Amino acid sequence: MGSEAEARAKAPTGGIGGVLRKCWYTFTVLMNATFWNMYELFTPHKKFDVKKATRRPGDNVVITGAARGIGKEVVKKLLMLDMHVIIGVRNETVAKTMVDEFRKARITTGTVDIMPLDLKSFESVREFATQVLRKYTKIHILINNAGIYSQPYEKTEDGYEITFQVNHLSHFLLTNMLLPKLTYAGTSERASRIVNVGSIAHYPGKIDVNDIWMEKAFGSNWSYANSKLLQSISSKDFNDRLVKEGYPVRSLAVHPGCIASGLYDTYPKFVQAYFWLLFKNCEQGADGILYVALSPDVENDGGGKYFQNCSTFFQNSQVNNTEVQKAVWEASCKATGWKDSMNSKPKTSPNRKNTPAIVITKDSGAESISSAKSKVNKDDLERESEIEEETTSPNEVKVTAKSQGEIDAIPSVDST
Ligand SMILES: NC(=O)c1ccc[n+]([C@@H]2O[C@H](COP(=O)([O-])OP(=O)(O)OC[C@H]3O[C@@H](n4cnc5c(N)ncnc54)[C@H](OP(=O)(O)O)[C@@H]3O)[C@@H](O)[C@H]2O)c1
Repeated sequence: MGSEAEARAKAPTGGIGGVLRKCWYTFTVLMNATFWNMYELFTPHKKFDVKKATRRPGDNVVITGAARGIGKEVVKKLLMLDMHVIIGVRNETVAKTMVDEFRKARITTGTVDIMPLDLKSFESVREFATQVLRKYTKIHILINNAGIYSQPYEKTEDGYEITFQVNHLSHFLLTNMLLPKLTYAGTSERASRIVNVGSIAHYPGKIDVNDIWMEKAFGSNWSYANSKLLQSISSKDFNDRLVKEGYPVRSLAVHPGCIASGLYDTYPKFVQAYFWLLFKNCEQGADGILYVALSPDVENDGGGKYFQNCSTFFQNSQVNNTEVQKAVWEASCKATGWKDSMNSKPKTSPNRKNTPAIVITKDSGAESISSAKSKVNKDDLERESEIEEETTSPNEVKVTAKSQGEIDAIPSVDST
């Protein structure tokens, strides 16, 4: 990669037509943001009341980009609900400081695992996903939160424009890679959830199936709008595939609101001041995401929907266009090297409630837990990590063997 100026100079203009379209998109994205900001100002904010939410000890959530902004507030509430939060971040020290801050604020519940993840690099996504797959049996919720906006033109080491890679492509790869563990955590009573943090900016987006990554003409607002539209299209398409194949996993998209956050750092200070004055805060931004991730109201709606302010909302018409969905899926598979067509049956029974388990009382002590483990171990299992120990009630422990199919389900990706 050359210098920033060099990279910017290479942004394809698309000639006079491209420049006019860039101006048009910049205008429509900003008008769209202004309209929704006004709408939000006059619509009562729906709060997600964490005190009324069900505590979920032992449930695992993976979240991207959560050491600041809206994601940080989401993590705080997940910890208050006693969940285990796996945070993928670029700077682990910043994330550790964030957790210390929560602990000092007396949020003592929940646990955290911080792992490096840079969505600018598919290699980093693969590394992160592989670690998660190795360490965890189940993922109950995946929140694809990280995002960038209005960036100068830059291509990543993988050869894609940075906004498309961070916002859409890397999350596409991550979601596909983590699907086996999301499947394993889902049941017919409660599906696992993939929460794609989208945006109202997807409304003015328009995908040209012959130039999905905007190689012919580029504009930074325009690429953000299209990256969020790609996320929404993928979210819906993914959900349709999950439902069709009988996976106990649902995929949903959510606009968090117009939120004063670091997302607008590239804007002049006076514009940021306007945002701080009129936009919602990060805590309010977290409400909508938490609602989609946790609310039982979302449970039986079949997935695939788009939410804002804790309610379903209409989407850009391209989201339901099957030809566009197909083109986006194929282009995203090609870009990320993802080979699994997702048309094959999941490796574990989608509607399984629990694998065979040995339930023992806690009173019988560590020795009987370890003997239960060794008994389960004889079921053709080789590694300790293939056994799961779960507290099912105050005085009971359930020792479960993961099925071999599940253990083998770390997917392969063509990294070339
Ligand atoms: N704010 C709004 O008005 C608004 C409106 C609609 C939608 N959204 C969406 O909400 C989500 C959260 O945004 P926010 O407002 O909280 O913005 P933010 O404060 O700028 O936070 C963005 C997060 O994304 C992470 N991130 C950026 N590039 C990354 C990379 N290459 N690899 C890994 N993580 C990366 C950042 O991590 P670092 O700390 O490492 O930079 C940060 O944690 C985004 O998807 C955004 O598009 C926001």
